[in-house]
Amino acid sequence: MEQTKSVSANDFEYLRQLVRDHSAVVLSANKSYLAELHLQPIAESAGFTLISELVAYLKTQPFNNLHVQTIEALVTNETSFFRDYHPFEALRQYILPELIKKRAVERSLNIWCAACSNGQEPYSIAMLIREHFPLLTNWSIRLIASDFSTKVLTRAEKTYYQ
Ligand SMILES: C[S@@+](CC[C@H](N)C(=O)[O-])C[C@H]1O[C@@H](n2cnc3c(N)ncnc32)[C@H](O)[C@@H]1O
Repeated sequence: MEQTKSVSANDFEYLRQLVRDHSAVVLSANKSYLAELHLQPIAESAGFTLISELVAYLKTQPFNNLHVQTIEALVTNETSFFRDYHPFEALRQYILPELIKKRAVERSLNIWCAACSNGQEPYSIAMLIREHFPLLTNWSIRLIASDFSTKVLTRAEKTYYQ
């Protein structure tokens, strides 16, 4: 059973490169446990017994859905409301006040959360605006949320729009 879970240094190096090339996320070299934790179900659902068989397949095939699933499984989706203190403080104290000055004539703002995971980040921004910038009530605010993982976007839609 241990054998099915272990990931060789070579295979993990390939996986790190795959993730970096397609997401710009850099996994630390000592995080092979991530592959051991997350890739077994993907290997099995694709008909392999060992993670090493999955990696051998990925190495030899053109980029396809299995590469996508593998990358998504290795990139963390951790999120929470107001997850990091400093970016939200920077938004509140500096970025939004500056943008409000610059857009005073148009009275419109476009805000893009480019890696929104399950959606807590865009909702945190919406809450921050509502709480601290009442003058924006009459502005046109467009909050766009995207992520390269369809899994998290589906979860975000289910949680917030049903
Ligand atoms: C750690 S979560 C952070 C979510 C949110 N920004 C927050 O701070 O709460 C990282 C998210 O970035 C997404 N991601 C990573 N690389 C990406 C890329 N190149 N393009 C779009 N989304 C990406 C992942 O799918 C994941 O949902």
